[in-house]
Amino acid sequence: MFWCYFVIAPSLFTVFQLSHGVEVTVSDSEGKLCIYANLMVNFSVSYEEVGNKSSTAEFELPSKVTTEGSDCNVTSSLLKLNFGGHTWSVNFTNNGDKYQADSITFSYDLSNKAVFPNAALNETLSVSFKPEITGVAKDTCYSCKSRDTFESDTVNQTLWDVLIQAFVSNNSKCESCKCSFSITSTQTSAPTPTTTPTPTTTPTPTLPTPAVGVYSIKPDVNGTACLLANFGLRIGLKQAEEMNFDPNGTTTSGKCGDNSSDLVLVSKTMTIMLTFTNDTKKFRLHALNITGKTSVVFSEANTNLSLWEAAVGASYMCNKEQNYTITSMLTLFTFNLRVQPFGVRKGVFSTAHECSLDDTSILIPIIVGAALAGLILIVVVAYVIGRRKTYVGYQTL
Ligand SMILES: *[C@@H]1O[C@H](CO)[C@@H](O)[C@H](O)[C@H]1NC(C)=O
Ligand SMILES: *[C@@H]1O[C@H](CO)[C@@H](O)[C@H](O)[C@H]1NC(C)=O
Ligand SMILES: *[C@@H]1O[C@H](CO)[C@@H](O)[C@H](O)[C@H]1NC(C)=O
Ligand SMILES: *[C@@H]1O[C@H](CO)[C@@H](O)[C@H](O)[C@H]1NC(C)=O
Ligand SMILES: *[C@@H]1O[C@H](CO)[C@@H](O)[C@H](O)[C@H]1NC(C)=O
Ligand SMILES: *[C@@H]1O[C@H](CO)[C@@H](O)[C@H](O)[C@H]1NC(C)=O
Ligand SMILES: *[C@@H]1O[C@H](CO)[C@@H](O)[C@H](O)[C@H]1NC(C)=O
Ligand SMILES: *[C@@H]1O[C@H](CO)[C@@H](O)[C@H](O)[C@H]1NC(C)=O
Ligand SMILES: *[C@@H]1O[C@H](CO)[C@@H](O)[C@H](O)[C@H]1NC(C)=O
Ligand SMILES: *[C@@H]1O[C@H](CO)[C@@H](O)[C@H](O)[C@H]1NC(C)=O
Ligand SMILES: *[C@@H]1O[C@H](CO)[C@@H](O)[C@H](O)[C@H]1NC(C)=O
Ligand SMILES: *[C@@H]1O[C@H](CO)[C@@H](O)[C@H](O)[C@H]1NC(C)=O
Repeated sequence: MFWCYFVIAPSLFTVFQLSHGVEVTVSDSEGKLCIYANLMVNFSVSYEEVGNKSSTAEFELPSKVTTEGSDCNVTSSLLKLNFGGHTWSVNFTNNGDKYQADSITFSYDLSNKAVFPNAALNETLSVSFKPEITGVAKDTCYSCKSRDTFESDTVNQTLWDVLIQAFVSNNSKCESCKCSFSITSTQTSAPTPTTTPTPTTTPTPTLPTPAVGVYSIKPDVNGTACLLANFGLRIGLKQAEEMNFDPNGTTTSGKCGDNSSDLVLVSKTMTIMLTFTNDTKKFRLHALNITGKTSVVFSEANTNLSLWEAAVGASYMCNKEQNYTITSMLTLFTFNLRVQPFGVRKGVFSTAHECSLDDTSILIPIIVGAALAGLILIVVVAYVIGRRKTYVGYQTL
């Protein structure tokens, strides 16, 4: 079972490489586009044959489907795909900012003997599934490229390469609008990535450098800070777009301890919890838990990190952009980082231990300079010795 999450990203996604799926559009009573979908579905249906035998029929959603019976209004819409006497439908509800799919219903007609040879019954049977398509922001689409299988006693359906936009406003589908992305959890065998060759190079939108947040924890209202942290953060989710953490409007909380300090940052879209530990001489970032809320649905944590190490009483600084693999799903990017989780005096940062990148960038000119000075010294000494030798030589002559 794979879970598809989605992320609202600030620019267009490579949605249009979904070219081989079944593409449908639905218009409302005024003729305006209200649902756009492009998806693939495989069905596996077990049914009874004559002679008390059980059989399984496997088939795909054909490329030719009709959308009769589909309907849209402001608050709810229904996507209904009809093929060979069968129907596959999804109903959506809209609560203003977000919409969701409520259920997927598949009705199959056993009298279609091309699909169900020797079926004992001629009835039409129905199964419903509850999809995990919730909280999709208005005017964005839901997309999940990996396979998502729904199982019931008699029917298994596998969806993949799914792109659905319900409640299309302004008659324009999700072409240049914000779009949702899917990522796949890695907890089971990896889904076969869609091997469709990317028609054009994926435009990886370059995010602006995230704003640097200035955070501190004060043990009491009038006290001075016991923990200081300045950084710009970006997170990267596997198969999904990267996003910046917005310090504007972020609430800061946490606690300072002797051996462990916590910093909790809550923004509109993310909750980030950082745990620092003190092992008498050094501190380090030991645990990180990042949870995406609202438009971003994910929760990734690593409680066994050893990052941002420096002496207790000093601060750790890294101005360069750095990236850290936190989990198989999540990468953390930092910008202009400076933290001091222990031993803050007078509310200001102590001496900084700089990250190796910064160190080498400072060290290299020093080394080069020192090497040049040494070379000049050798040349001068050699010259002086050489002159003295010739001088001595003259005298003996
Ligand atoms: C869907 O079914 C087709 C043919 O039945 C098969 O070739 C394909 O591998 C299936 N895809 C998935 C993802 O199960
Ligand atoms: C559905 O999938 C399960 C697990 O893979 C399998 O045991 C079952 O036979 C499948 N049912 C049908 C109708 O294909
Ligand atoms: C069909 O098979 C089941 C067991 O497999 C048996 O209990 C049932 O009586 C059989 N029905 C008929 C009509 O043969
Ligand atoms: C939209 O359609 C649903 C179901 O078809 C219906 O219950 C609801 O009243 C409709 N809403 C409006 C505003 O027409
Ligand atoms: C969606 O469809 C399911 C099953 O057909 C039904 O139970 C549910 O009431 C529908 N929801 C809405 C909002 O129409
Ligand atoms: C199903 O329908 C076909 C043709 O419509 C008919 O020949 C057959 O006898 C029917 N089977 C049952 C079990 O009713
Ligand atoms: C809707 O379309 C009009 C005209 O094409 C455009 O000016 C407007 O910005 C659009 N609104 C949205 C929300 O896309
Ligand atoms: C903080 O200072 C204010 C006045 O400066 C004082 O009224 C208040 O009691 C102090 N609070 C604490 C927790 O010390
Ligand atoms: C922070 O957000 C508020 C409201 O969302 C906005 O008015 C303000 O300009 C923002 N400040 C910065 C520095 O972006
Ligand atoms: C760090 O831990 C050591 C030993 O537990 C303790 O003595 C020291 O006070 C701690 N440092 C700070 C700044 O809390
Ligand atoms: C991470 O934070 C979330 C939300 O606060 C919580 O549900 C989850 O258990 C935390 N994970 C770990 C490993 O602490
Ligand atoms: C992470 O940093 C390394 C070197 O610092 C760089 O080579 C790599 O491209 C970076 N990865 C990402 C995803 O930016």
